[in-house]
Amino acid sequence: MSLQQYIRDIQDFPKTGIVFKDITPLLLSPEATRECLALLISSLGEKKIDKVVGVESRGFFFATLLAHELNAGFIPVRKPKKLPFSTISASYALEYGTDTLEIHTDAIQKGDRVLIHDDVLATGGTAKAVCELVEKLGGEIVQCNFLMELSFLNGREKLENKEIFAAMTY
Ligand code: PRP
Ligand code: MG
Repeated sequence: MSLQQYIRDIQDFPKTGIVFKDITPLLLSPEATRECLALLISSLGEKKIDKVVGVESRGFFFATLLAHELNAGFIPVRKPKKLPFSTISASYALEYGTDTLEIHTDAIQKGDRVLIHDDVLATGGTAKAVCELVEKLGGEIVQCNFLMELSFLNGREKLENKEIFAAMTY
């Protein structure tokens, strides 16, 4: 099965000139979802994972499936002012301005082996900010994985020494 069959290109979304990669056809298919999940899991080999971090909002879909499959805890990283308990935050640059992500301070224990998941690796700004949050709390990042990597945007370069896996590459 080619997973890319389940990714729909949407021209000029959310802005003119952008081709948006829509994952909803993949989510609609239990077979494709299962296959994609299995691919992400097998990329970990025998590595043990204590916590899976999912990035709001499109990272949540597979991150909870991964956590369940790995018998690990799930941690939401959210946009500002969404998490109710005490948080730390990290900001990253956008084309115009900055954005911020937050995590609960009690989500990670020092030495926890953490898998970070998001749907897309584009410029890498989001994933880099999430790595900073996890490391600030003492987590050990085992892998950052993605449904897809837009390799022409060189997001990997921002994640220098991290292990990266993507189920699909464009
Ligand atoms: C998109 C995507 C990734 C991020 C990747 O999220 O879901 O999280 O951008 O981009 P980057 O590698 O250039 O940082 P977005 O911020 O649009 O929010 P959403 O997931 O809530 O739709
Ligand atoms: Mg996102």
